[in-house]
Amino acid sequence: MNGLVKKFKSIFDPSSPEAELLERIDPKKLPRHIAVIMDGNGRWAKQRKLPRVAGHRAGIKAVRAVVEAAARLPISVLTLYAFSAENWKRPRSEVSTLMNLLKNYIRKELSTIQKNGIRFLTIGRIDELPQSVQKELRFAEEETRGNKGTKMVVALNYSGRLELVDAFNQLLKEGVPYPISEDNIEKSLYTVGLPDPDLMIRTSGEMRVSNFLLWQIAYAEIYVTEVLWPDFREIHLLKAILEFQQRERRYGGLRFTSFDNVQ
Ligand code: FPP
Repeated sequence: MNGLVKKFKSIFDPSSPEAELLERIDPKKLPRHIAVIMDGNGRWAKQRKLPRVAGHRAGIKAVRAVVEAAARLPISVLTLYAFSAENWKRPRSEVSTLMNLLKNYIRKELSTIQKNGIRFLTIGRIDELPQSVQKELRFAEEETRGNKGTKMVVALNYSGRLELVDAFNQLLKEGVPYPISEDNIEKSLYTVGLPDPDLMIRTSGEMRVSNFLLWQIAYAEIYVTEVLWPDFREIHLLKAILEFQQRERRYGGLRFTSFDNVQ
């Protein structure tokens, strides 16, 4: 039994498919940062003749499973795309359900987040979210500030292009002298201090990046699964990690066989 199987033995039987995957995953080559585009909630609900919001509600179960698995592995950073700056175009009732789900998630899960040593962070134009949501987010960020485990980063009212706009405006405001560098830009992004994603997962089969972490995913491995987000569980995360470990990352060079940059 390898170390990873042991870590998960309270959840998965050693003869389960999850344990078999864990056996094959190299704990020394885990991606440092996994970013997830959680897609397919609406389709999941439609397949069941349920309202779209039922899909979002079911999506919370997947969030819980993935966050806890990431903390256990451990993955240093897990970024979840929960609400894009374009999502305001959705019906008002769907937007308010998403905001309420987020608040309820924090209220319900904060103790588990604490127990697992997870640090809760957000990226996006948070100051444009409803005050009650901002209050909940600030509380979770404050309460988990000292935690040293996985950083759970929730992207809210997020747009990769707006992140760059905000970064460049910040540089202008600071009066950074011409010419600006990659380093200047990186230090002005919402993700300052976080490593770039090594692996980006998108559920429900679409082959799009959807304005997510445009700068940061320059060298990320992209993994798309047909699984709809509400059905996504630990086994799917483990499959994505295993496939990531089997890819050869070259960073524009000719060959790159070690995962030196990864951990
Ligand atoms: C995309 O599915 C999903 C979203 C826009 C929302 C994701 C939000 C959650 C799972 C809940 C809140 C998250 C956290 C971190 C607590 P879609 O509605 O675009 O699906 P479709 O493409 O099938 O219509």
